[in-house]
Amino acid sequence: DILAPVIALDGPSASGKGTVAARVAAALEFHYLDSGALYRLTALAAVRRGVLFDDVEGLTEVARALDASFVEGVILLDGEEATEAIRSEAIGEGASRVAALAPVRDALLARQRAFQRLPGLVADGRDMGSVVFPQAQLKVFLTATAEVRAERRHKQLIAKGEDVTIQKILEDIQQRDARDSARTVAPLVQLPDARLLDTSAMTIDQAVRTVLGWWETVQSSRP
Ligand code: CDP
Ligand code: CDP
Repeated sequence: DILAPVIALDGPSASGKGTVAARVAAALEFHYLDSGALYRLTALAAVRRGVLFDDVEGLTEVARALDASFVEGVILLDGEEATEAIRSEAIGEGASRVAALAPVRDALLARQRAFQRLPGLVADGRDMGSVVFPQAQLKVFLTATAEVRAERRHKQLIAKGEDVTIQKILEDIQQRDARDSARTVAPLVQLPDARLLDTSAMTIDQAVRTVLGWWETVQSSRP
């Protein structure tokens, strides 16, 4: 059995991981895993089922039984489209809370690994390189300053009609960074074997080209 190669893109909220990962996957015709969507779906399913965010057993059961599918950029929950519904700030906040629970993370592990199929996978999240795909051929730590990330997220939310100030988003981002980095299970860290990509002053195109260039280097140095 040949295991498909993996490119792991980890980094903080709104650093551009999703956008860059999806573009890299498209360019290489690789599969794409948006692992954050699984935590967001767990949070949304919990809200819909009336499971509270302090009910660890309830949340673990929701994660285990999650009826989710990803079809060409469309995300389904219980057979209904949830692509937009999981992108709100409230669900992002809930996702960050359920993601701090070890049993919830365990319940989602096999589901994430199932995305590793030929010809290859690009996966984005917080622990792609550390926990889910530690054997990834290329690990990237994608980041940007909190101010730049708040601006990017603000633009996205305003375009969707959410009424929120940049100051509030900056506070949310800082709080989420702190929670994602300080938690004991699978914290967000820059691994020693990950390449740093600071996109603060980069366009999406530049970031995508950098990752593709790294991938070429990795491939040409393989025996
Ligand atoms: O878009 P943003 O980067 O804010 O979030 P996301 O990637 O959609 O993930 C939502 C939340 O899930 C994050 O705040 C993390 O706490 C959590 N997450 C995680 O713990 N591990 C992952 N591999 C991906 C997301
Ligand atoms: O997945 P993550 O939360 O890390 O970020 P994202 O949703 O991919 O990106 C957040 C926003 O920043 C999107 O609207 C991207 O188009 C934008 N972005 C950008 O303007 N410049 C970059 N170099 C990367 C992302």
